[in-house]
Amino acid sequence: MDLMGHGSIVTIDVKKLHDLSHPRITYLLGSSTAPDIVEQVRLRVAASRGPVLIILDSDHSQKHVAAELETYATFVTPGSYYLVQDGVIDTLPMMHGDRPGPLPAIDDFAARHAEFEIDHERCERFIISQHPRGWLRRRTNP
Ligand SMILES: C[S@@+](CC[C@H](N)C(=O)[O-])C[C@H]1O[C@@H](n2cnc3c(N)ncnc32)[C@H](O)[C@@H]1O
Repeated sequence: MDLMGHGSIVTIDVKKLHDLSHPRITYLLGSSTAPDIVEQVRLRVAASRGPVLIILDSDHSQKHVAAELETYATFVTPGSYYLVQDGVIDTLPMMHGDRPGPLPAIDDFAARHAEFEIDHERCERFIISQHPRGWLRRRTNP
């Protein structure tokens, strides 16, 4: 972003994980679905001129991912993406204790939100992926 001369990041976590800082990064402390946090993101999105990409990589439970997907959907700009991380949890035997995870949330969201499509080319670019069906593109002509 520094090389391009534009762009910024808003990142959210319930825990303060470090003391790093960068002028392009805003760290918000709280739950990604808490109304005051969502309002801060909404204001940033409203003030933004460029495309908005949203990456979901917090609590990977189906319930939380579903809530995040509904909460941030309108912030993703047409042609840009939701990246829902770690759907692989729902496919690996060794992670069965962490299910249901992101995949059923993605499938339910995609079935109800025709303005988004799963970008299979991007999802299946490599032989394996941590984020199956995780790239959701917001259509430009829904
Ligand atoms: C898989 S880690 C990812 C961390 C970070 N995205 C990264 O790539 O380094 C999940 C993080 O989500 C945070 N988390 C858990 N529940 C959350 C919630 N409701 N809202 C925001 N963050 C949450 C955890 O504290 C943890 O740091």
